[in-house]
Amino acid sequence: MKENIILSLVKVTNLTKEEVEKLLEIPPGSELGDFAFPCFSLAQTLKKNPNKIAQELAQKIKLKELDKVEVKGPYINFFLNKSSLAENTLNEILKQKDKYGYSTEGKRKTVVIDMSSPNIAKPFGIGHLRSTIIGNALGNIAKSNGHKVIKLNYLGDWGTPFGKVIAGYKKWGDAKKLEKEPIKHLYEIYVQASQDEGMEELGRQTFRKLEEGDKETLAIWKKFRQLSIMEFNKLYEKLGISFNVTSGESEYNNKMQPTLDELKEKNLLVEDQGAKVVNLEKYNLGVCLIQKSDGATLYATRDITAAIDRHKKYHASQLLYEVGQEQKLHFKQFFKVLELMGHEWAKNCAHVDHGLYLAPDGKKFATRKGKTIFMEDIIDETKELAKQEIAKREKLSQKELEHRALKIALAAIFYGDLKNHRSADIIFDVNRFLSFEGNTGPYLLYTYARAKSILRKAKYKKTKFKIPELSPEEKQLILQLSKFPEEVAKAYKDLAPNIIANYAYQIAQQFNEFYHKIKILNSENEKFGLALVSAFSQTLKNSLNLLGIEVLEQM
Ligand code: ARG
Repeated sequence: MKENIILSLVKVTNLTKEEVEKLLEIPPGSELGDFAFPCFSLAQTLKKNPNKIAQELAQKIKLKELDKVEVKGPYINFFLNKSSLAENTLNEILKQKDKYGYSTEGKRKTVVIDMSSPNIAKPFGIGHLRSTIIGNALGNIAKSNGHKVIKLNYLGDWGTPFGKVIAGYKKWGDAKKLEKEPIKHLYEIYVQASQDEGMEELGRQTFRKLEEGDKETLAIWKKFRQLSIMEFNKLYEKLGISFNVTSGESEYNNKMQPTLDELKEKNLLVEDQGAKVVNLEKYNLGVCLIQKSDGATLYATRDITAAIDRHKKYHASQLLYEVGQEQKLHFKQFFKVLELMGHEWAKNCAHVDHGLYLAPDGKKFATRKGKTIFMEDIIDETKELAKQEIAKREKLSQKELEHRALKIALAAIFYGDLKNHRSADIIFDVNRFLSFEGNTGPYLLYTYARAKSILRKAKYKKTKFKIPELSPEEKQLILQLSKFPEEVAKAYKDLAPNIIANYAYQIAQQFNEFYHKIKILNSENEKFGLALVSAFSQTLKNSLNLLGIEVLEQM
C-alpha cells in the first residue's frame, strides 16, 4: 500500500522513488492520516508556494486503497482504507508465512560480520556474549534483507600474552588439570605469570619463538587453542548460535610482511623509539603501532592484514565488526590506515559497537568473590530460575521442562540485551530479564503461546474471511503488522536489532489489548478474528526469530 502511494507520488512529482521514500512521513497523530508528504523541498525547486503545490498534487492522486487524500498546509495526508489494508496485510502474512518481512533488495551482496571473537586460554567474557547475541541478530536481519551473510568468529589466538601463558605452563602447568578444565587452568597460569616480573621477558621470547614457527612452542599453542575452541563450542551449542567461518589472529602470522611492505612503500611507516608506527595525529587519532622494536607484530597489524584478506576473499559490500566500545580508537585507527593505504573499500568497514553489561548494582561486571565468571554457568543458572518459574505454573515431564527452561532462559537473556540500543550500557539482571510480565523475552514467548493456544482451541485452518467493521484495536494492530517489512529494512539500515525488539513488544501489547476487548471464538466474525490472531502470531514469531529467539508453541 505504501508502495502504491510512493509510485503515485513519483508520477505526479517527477521525483525519483528514493527521493519520495525519503520524504514520506508517518504523521504524529492518526487524525492526520497514515502517511504524509511534505512539499517544502518541491517548493524550493519549483519556486512556488508549498501549500499550493500540495493542493495541486493532491487533486491528481487517486488510489482505490485510499479513503481520502487531504491537504493540511504544505502537507498531503493520506488516509488508508482500513478494510483493504486489512485484507492485503492478512493475506500477505498468511501467504508468506516465515518469509513475511523478508526482502530481496540486497541480492548477491555479501556482508561479513566479525562477531563473538573471544580470546583463547581465557574465559569467554561477558562482552563476547553481547557481541555473539548482537552479531547473530544482525546476521539474521541482513539475511532477511536479501544479503548473503558470513558470520565470522575471529579468535584472539595470537600475541604476546600467549608467550606468557606458554612459558607459564611449562613452569607450573598440570596436564591433568589442562584436560579437565583447560580455560580455567590456563587463565590461572596467565594471572600468575602476569604478577611475576620475571615472566615478562620470558613471555616475549616465547612469543617470538611462536612467531618464528618453533615446533615445540607451536605444538603447545595448538593444544591450548584446540581445547579452548572445544569449550567455546559447548557454549555456542547451548546458545544455538553458529558461524560460517572460525578464524583467528593467528591466521595472519607469516602473512603480515606484504602489509608491512605496502605501508613502507606508501611512505606511511615511521620509526618511533625503535618501533614502527603510522602517525595519525593529523586526524586526532594518535599513532597506530604496527611493529614493536623486537619485530613482534600487533593487534592492529593483524586486523589490517585480515581486512585486506576478507575484502579479497568475500568481495563484501560491508565488513562489520561487532565489538565493544572500548575498542573504538583501535577501529578508527586501522580503518584510517586502510584508507591512507589507498584502499577505497575502507569506507565499507564499520565498527558496530556495543556498550557494557553492568552488574545489578550498576557497577562494572567484575569477578564474583574473586572468581572468574563462566558464561555457561550464567546460562545454567538462568535456566534453573526459569525451571522454578515454570514449576509454579504447571507440571511437565523432565524432558519438556529442560527444553522449555532453556528456551525461556535464552529468550530472557537475548531479549534483555536486544531491546536496548546496542551502544547503551545494560544492567545484566537475569531476575528482571526472566519476568513473565513487562517488556521481557518470556512475556513475548508467553504472548505467542497464548495466541497459538487460541488457534489450537478453534482448530484453526486457513480459510477465506470477510473484513468486518473494524474496531480501533483491530485497526491499530493491522496497521502495525503491515509495517513489519519496513521495520526489518530500517533495522538493517541502522544496524539496530532493538528496532525489531521494540516492534515485537509493540505488537504483543496491541494484540493483548485487542484480545481483551474482542470476543473471537464463536463470534460472528470468528474467521476474520482467527486470521488476525494467526497473522499476528506469525509476525511475532518472525520478529523473535530475527533476534535469534525461538518460540515455544505452548507455555
Ligand atoms: N579478541 C578481541 C577481544 O576479545 C576481539 C576481536 C574483535 N575483532 C577484531 N577484528 N578485532 O578483545
